[in-house]
Amino acid sequence: MELHITLLLLAALLVVVSLLQPLAGRLGVNAGILVAVVGVAIGLGATLAASADPESLLARVFVQIPASSGVFMYVFLPLLLFQSSLNINLSRILEDSAPILLLAVIAVIVETLVIGVSLSWVAPVSLVACLLLGAIVSTTDPVAVVGIFRDVGAPSRLGRLLEGESLLNDAAAITLFTVLLDILVGGHSAGGTATVLTFVRNFIGGIALGWAGTRVTVALLGWLPDLRLAQVTLTLALPYVVFILGEQYLTVSGVMAAVVAGLAMNTIGQPRMAPADWQFMRDLWQQLDFWASSLIFILAALLVPKLMVDIGPYDWLLLAVLVVASLSARTLTLFGLLPALSALKLSQPIGNRFKIVILWGGLRGATTLALGLAVTENPLITDDVQRFIAILATGFVLVTLFVNGTTLKLLIGLLGLDRLSALDRALREQVLALSRGRVADSVRAIADRYHFPPEVTQQVTGAYVNQATASTTPSWTSGSADSEDARLLLGLLALGTHERELILQQFGEQTVAGRIVAELLADAGRLIDRTRAKGPAEYMLAAQRSVGFKPRFKTAHLLHRRFHVDGLLVDALGDRFERLLVSRIVQNELVPYVDDKLLPLVGPATAERLRDVLRRRQEMTTSALQALRVQHPDYGEQLERRFLQKVALRREELEYRTLFQDGVIGPELYSALRREVQAARATLSVRPRLDLGLEARSLVVRVPMFARLSETQIASVARLLQPRFAVPDEVLIREGARGDSMYFISSGAVDVDAVGHTIRLERGDFFGEMALLTGEPRQATVRASTYCQLLVLEAEDFRRLLRSSKAIRKEIDRVAEARRRMNEQARAEQDGTD
Ligand code: CMP
Repeated sequence: MELHITLLLLAALLVVVSLLQPLAGRLGVNAGILVAVVGVAIGLGATLAASADPESLLARVFVQIPASSGVFMYVFLPLLLFQSSLNINLSRILEDSAPILLLAVIAVIVETLVIGVSLSWVAPVSLVACLLLGAIVSTTDPVAVVGIFRDVGAPSRLGRLLEGESLLNDAAAITLFTVLLDILVGGHSAGGTATVLTFVRNFIGGIALGWAGTRVTVALLGWLPDLRLAQVTLTLALPYVVFILGEQYLTVSGVMAAVVAGLAMNTIGQPRMAPADWQFMRDLWQQLDFWASSLIFILAALLVPKLMVDIGPYDWLLLAVLVVASLSARTLTLFGLLPALSALKLSQPIGNRFKIVILWGGLRGATTLALGLAVTENPLITDDVQRFIAILATGFVLVTLFVNGTTLKLLIGLLGLDRLSALDRALREQVLALSRGRVADSVRAIADRYHFPPEVTQQVTGAYVNQATASTTPSWTSGSADSEDARLLLGLLALGTHERELILQQFGEQTVAGRIVAELLADAGRLIDRTRAKGPAEYMLAAQRSVGFKPRFKTAHLLHRRFHVDGLLVDALGDRFERLLVSRIVQNELVPYVDDKLLPLVGPATAERLRDVLRRRQEMTTSALQALRVQHPDYGEQLERRFLQKVALRREELEYRTLFQDGVIGPELYSALRREVQAARATLSVRPRLDLGLEARSLVVRVPMFARLSETQIASVARLLQPRFAVPDEVLIREGARGDSMYFISSGAVDVDAVGHTIRLERGDFFGEMALLTGEPRQATVRASTYCQLLVLEAEDFRRLLRSSKAIRKEIDRVAEARRRMNEQARAEQDGTD
């Protein structure tokens, strides 16, 4: 077909797609479904026209559609995969990694097997072909369900679960698809282990390729600061490069590579781009994704009538088997495997009602169509298999769209999952009232400035004021305890939302690195989720968790303790310091928000409770920060200075921009000044390194017992002792355990719980000596009460140390004996009172 006609066809389809969007809104149906319906209708018309007059232009245009399998595979797929993972925040799906992996990988395998085996009993094609179809239809498209969940105010964790699932299951399904296609085309039998091995190799290879590609891209981005058009173009190239390299040259999963590229871009690329540029890129990708999925839908729908002309009753039977098999497989995973995970404490339990929605909401979309159509036209596949897969894949997508898609909302209503939205409605009411009040205020101010007559002002602002009071008054004039709690809930949720805004604002001001912002946002998100799901009491618990040590910190600390790897701990401590610092700034700004904005909405009593909650949070943050500061006073100051410097740079930048926009300075000077600011910011972007201060010699001399030794003795003692960093509340020794080492405190303090007493030991003290001396179990539990620098002495080295110096031996013996006596006495007293 001539090029200009193809292009005209594409343009016409784009016009149809855009005009369908508002129509879908008006009809209240999902836009994807409407696009599919219209596509089928157009295709039907074209097929009829073609059979009437095969030579007419219309027939030629529509029946010879310019969509080959290669187009679906290589043009659309990388784009769809990259875009969907670009939106996913890795750290938030990591929390739910177990159920997501289960849903994604295991569910795909279960579904492929169940569908493949059931169909192979009735279908006239081989088992491998049936399995191939299974893999194709096991990719789910979460957009519809996630959208509905958002509408009904379901916990955002659920949306994340589904997004994470669909992302990885695309990858798993397509990797499986490629392996099965190879077998089908190559004709070799589906050997079990070989297939699994290929699958695993492709999968892991794809991950590595995607990650490496993104690293290179991000490095290149660094060369193009301020050139957003060039930056975005680079990100456009990324998924295609890794996809094609993977599929064509390296025989690893290009799909996985494209998915990982998107995820990695979000994690490591975002902090390297200015927020406005990042947003620009996201917008552009969203647009591309919209075009791609609309075109896939409409092109696929156009093909349907062609496929359906010779569809017989037998095909309907196959489709029915497919639908039942797919539903059963999903039921098996959701109700069989997922509860097992919760039982193993690998994930939080997911309610049955949500499971039903996930089951019914497993819509299939563009990816399934693209894969199904990629099989047709593959010359190596026999016609009957092509037809089998094309008809069933397309038919299945249509069934899920028409049947499940249209009834999902109804189901959610029946299950009562939309009931939560009462809370959201109330929240929205309050917020609207607030902003209406603000509108009225500013209109009044402007009217004052321009000396408008008061009646006119009154007329305009009146409507706003009335609405504002109408929606606020009832909420806190009725004083029942019930509404008091509801108000507190509203207030906390509003606080959570505002907290997110404040954090994002810091990101916009470029005062905080993207990684820290992501962590803070995740914390704030959890605060909102938990409070919404379980009420105000949960708010404080979640807040407590957010000042606690994160899993990453714990892992880093473990590596330090076990393997003396310090780098990660240094980073984790630096991050913690910075995060606490920003949290404190944000929390300070929340207080006036309560007074100015929330007080009129929730009333004085609730406002006081909100203030109290904030005060407790501030205390927690401050004391966590203080604990770090005591140990690393200089570092805290360095970080604060750096923060202020960044604020200053941002102000400077804004000043220059105003001067430029007002025409006070010309473009050359302006760009020179901006370059200066950017250079200064680049030097600040590397955080100063925290010094753990774990240098053995300097720690040894801080212990009085060693301070008197000669230089050479100190050096030999330092060789025996292993520096170690401890965090508040860390248990160092547990009562009753076997003793294998003792500790000297170089800085910080620990608490000893011995026989009902708590004894504090500080810098220069030692503990853990008794078990080593007597060979008995540990006499007490010892817990770090601040950050500590300790020196650890293993049992063997302990004996070596005692042999080397009489004075040390005497001192340790003396202290141990005193402690033994003290404990004995305490025990006797205890027995006396009993
Ligand atoms: P050990 O028994 O090896 O492990 C627990 C440690 O707590 C113990 O050695 C002492 O170092 C310390 N400890 C036990 N009792 C006391 C006490 N009464 N005062 C101070 N430290 C103690």
